[in-house]
Amino acid sequence: MFRPFQLKTLDLKNRIVMAPMTRSFSPNGVPTDTVAAYYKARAAGEVGLILSEGTVINRPASSNDANVPHFYGEDALAGWKKVIDGVHASGGAMGPQLWHMGIMDNHRSGWVPPTPFEGPSGLGRPGFTNGNAMTQKDIEDTILAFGQAAFDAKAAGFDTIELHGAHGYLIDQFFWEGSNERTDGYGGKTLAERTRFATDVIQEVRRRVGEDFAIILRLSQFKPQYYDYKLAANPTEMEAWLTPLADAGVDIFHCSQRRFWEPEFSDSDLNFAGWAKKITGKATITVGSVGLDGEFMAAFAGESSQPSSLEELTRRLDRGDFDLVAVGRAILSDPNWVAKIKNGDTQSLKGFQPEALGSLVLE
Ligand SMILES: Cc1cc2nc3c(=O)[nH]c(=O)nc-3n(C[C@H](O)[C@H](O)[C@H](O)COP(=O)(O)O)c2cc1C
Repeated sequence: MFRPFQLKTLDLKNRIVMAPMTRSFSPNGVPTDTVAAYYKARAAGEVGLILSEGTVINRPASSNDANVPHFYGEDALAGWKKVIDGVHASGGAMGPQLWHMGIMDNHRSGWVPPTPFEGPSGLGRPGFTNGNAMTQKDIEDTILAFGQAAFDAKAAGFDTIELHGAHGYLIDQFFWEGSNERTDGYGGKTLAERTRFATDVIQEVRRRVGEDFAIILRLSQFKPQYYDYKLAANPTEMEAWLTPLADAGVDIFHCSQRRFWEPEFSDSDLNFAGWAKKITGKATITVGSVGLDGEFMAAFAGESSQPSSLEELTRRLDRGDFDLVAVGRAILSDPNWVAKIKNGDTQSLKGFQPEALGSLVLE
């Protein structure tokens, strides 16, 4: 875990990535100085690569939460500039996770965006409509907005960007037949056909950032409402899904699972990141309950987790299943988690308590 990693613009001192985690501490979409201090503390704590919380692109209904940061507009971009400068000053590397939520449930705060939510067919999941099916123009403008955000990230000095294509949000809504009923070129009966929106976004991002800038794409098989769902039911379907994405310009696949040790398909212990690397030959990031004994969706229902062994993780990493390892809640709770692991200081690991979600833990 403590070997360096180099790929295009990424030059990382170790293999540990802070997983993207929404915190909703950016009033009116503008990251505050406390947000900058929160990320800077993780860089000082020796995280190799920090991925920001999901930060939304310039579309009127890209967010359902007034406190989720924007990645557009002068004030928000100035806030992000402070974030990346602080991370670099502490020896870290970072990319923003660029996000469009797509069709959403209304936020519990009652806040709603100025226009209706938008998605491939107005559906967030089967039987749940809350917004509009995107027109061709909406799709074109959204693709351009992803490209602009990536361009702005590079201009601000970020080391990479991650596209949020997982967990049932906009890009994933295009992948999923349960939310994509389009009959034009952005729909289709096969998963391969439904990659068109994502490949257009990736190509536009690539066009705006150049060949040498690393692009990460986060994907999940599961949906938050359907843990056991698999977009790709077998390796052949996974190949049909990932190959066009790799060809469009993805450098690193970030393969979201709730538990990294769970095999993706029968007859092999390879997990999602393991299969993605085997199929595409690209670098991959694994994630899911690293260093903890309980998984993250349960954290939203108030469950704590205790520290757990890293033996199985390092076995898979050393075997070459994946290149990087993302850690969420353990680093949310403790900016020094990586330094403690490196120094063998396991006695002082904190685990995860749901109270950590209530503030930006700075030490
Ligand atoms: C509070 C919280 C917020 C999250 N927000 C995001 C997000 O904005 N984008 C995303 O891709 N995943 C998000 N996730 C999922 C994490 O990136 C990660 O995949 C998950 O927590 C599993 O890692 P862990 O078991 O180490 O916590 C979030 C998780 C938590 C706990």
